[in-house]
Amino acid sequence: MFSTIISGAICGMNVMLVHVEVDMAQGLPGFMMVGYLSGEVKEAGERVRVALKNSGISIPPMRITVNLSPADIRKEGTAFDLPVAVGMLLSLGYIENEAVSDIMIAGELSLDGKVNPIKGVLPLVRKAKETGMKRCLVPEENRNEGAVISGVEVIGAATLKEALCYLKGEQEEKAPKKKPAGNKTKKREKAPDFSEIGGQTAAKRAVEIAAAGFHNLLLIGPPGSGKTMIAKRIPGILPPLTMDERLEVSSLYSISGLLGSEETFITRRPFMSPHHTATARTLVGGGRIPRPGIASLAHKGVLFLDEMPEFGQHVLDMLRQPLEDKRINIARIGGNYTYPADFMLVGAMNPCPCGYYPDMNRCRCSLTDIKKYQSHISGPILDRIDMCTEVSQVAMKELTQKIKGETSASIRKRVIKARKRQEDRYGGKGYGYECNAGLTVKDIRKFCGLDEKELKLMERAFATLQLSARGYYRILRVARTIADLDESEKIKEIHLAEALSYRMEGNKYWER
Ligand SMILES: Nc1ncnc2c1ncn2[C@@H]1O[C@H](COP(=O)(O)OP(=O)(O)O)[C@@H](O)[C@H]1O
Ligand SMILES: [Mg+2]
Ligand SMILES: [Zn+2]
Repeated sequence: MFSTIISGAICGMNVMLVHVEVDMAQGLPGFMMVGYLSGEVKEAGERVRVALKNSGISIPPMRITVNLSPADIRKEGTAFDLPVAVGMLLSLGYIENEAVSDIMIAGELSLDGKVNPIKGVLPLVRKAKETGMKRCLVPEENRNEGAVISGVEVIGAATLKEALCYLKGEQEEKAPKKKPAGNKTKKREKAPDFSEIGGQTAAKRAVEIAAAGFHNLLLIGPPGSGKTMIAKRIPGILPPLTMDERLEVSSLYSISGLLGSEETFITRRPFMSPHHTATARTLVGGGRIPRPGIASLAHKGVLFLDEMPEFGQHVLDMLRQPLEDKRINIARIGGNYTYPADFMLVGAMNPCPCGYYPDMNRCRCSLTDIKKYQSHISGPILDRIDMCTEVSQVAMKELTQKIKGETSASIRKRVIKARKRQEDRYGGKGYGYECNAGLTVKDIRKFCGLDEKELKLMERAFATLQLSARGYYRILRVARTIADLDESEKIKEIHLAEALSYRMEGNKYWER
């Protein structure tokens, strides 16, 4: 007898509906699986057969053919085990046809009949809802993750037996739970707060501007000055994620297998801080079965590169594409995968190998050493960093003073206000970006017009700073954000002057 079960395949960020067709016929016993499958999928036959046996179900010797359609998309992973098993049981008449109508099934089986967790349950359930399905049968461990999507009943099965019980409509003590246990978001330790940072007024101001316009930022300063401390606090002043962003970011984490019982839905801005020994692949993603890289897991949040010159140049250069396109494409024989990667790049670095340049009383490095160290950050990457700020050594009295610094919540209020202005300007108007950092050259003319006084200042700066066209536009984008923080529609001289200062701080280290 022939049966069809609906499941899904994850292709990049998309889910394709997959029909798992099972045919069981008299004849020479055997098991054949077709439909453009990767190795793990082909092995499903063995896993399913043994899992069924160990769940107390014996399959008569028959010729079993499984086809996963459509045939033109490559299917990877082990999530087809459960639908194949259910398809076989349906063919054998263990369950009724009605039991599998309007249900999506996905899950891996282990030999003892347990249902193991899989990647991508959140986008699978989303797809099920989109296509009008009413129920999803998923591994118990993924149930809460799927239950985030309303309007679809998500059933978790810990074993093949439980799944079967549910589909047969049997009540057993160990019947699978239908009701979600509530969406869990990780109870993380209290987020670090800007009020804990003494002094550093200038750096804090730069960070606020960067957060308000989603500008890439480089923090330069001696060891122990608080660069890492500052960077870690940036997500706390970014505006909250919108519901759509939460779903998108959570989907990325779901297909990466990073949602679990601790955290089933991402509600906070990501902060990713890869070690400088990270490979290009871990950073931008890839692998035989492509998975999102760290840059994608930082989507809508902060990608922090601490000790930036220590990263391999090749690795840093891999960030050019996401910095430009806000997404990452991975080409594979099985198809092209695209993952979003719209992050705020925050870099931190010592100014020289010993860390104390330009303090010539303490710096022990030769000029050649310094140049070499700084050149680890290549022009193309430097070109995409909107702002540089020096983080200087804090004075003792700033560490001991009783008055607490401004809290993250209070800084965030201003950031949100400035974002609101940007949203009013760009939102829903087809510009393709939401923040000043995304302003195109064409739109800069429209939104960053300068009056005579400001033009004069820009002219002088252009000559003295030897600006490139790129540098010129970058300054205007930052100036636009400073004006927005100041609630000014016009970019005024003081806004421009401040934007220029973040350029000049970088120019001390690089001639560009
Ligand atoms: N401005 C500051 N206020 C309070 N503590 C600070 C400050 N700057 C540095 N510290 C302390 O020094 C430690 C080292 O700071 P860190 O951020 O790691 O420096 P860097 O990354 O610049 O080398 C921090 O963990 C913190 O305890
Ligand atoms: Mg550090
Ligand atoms: Zn030095």
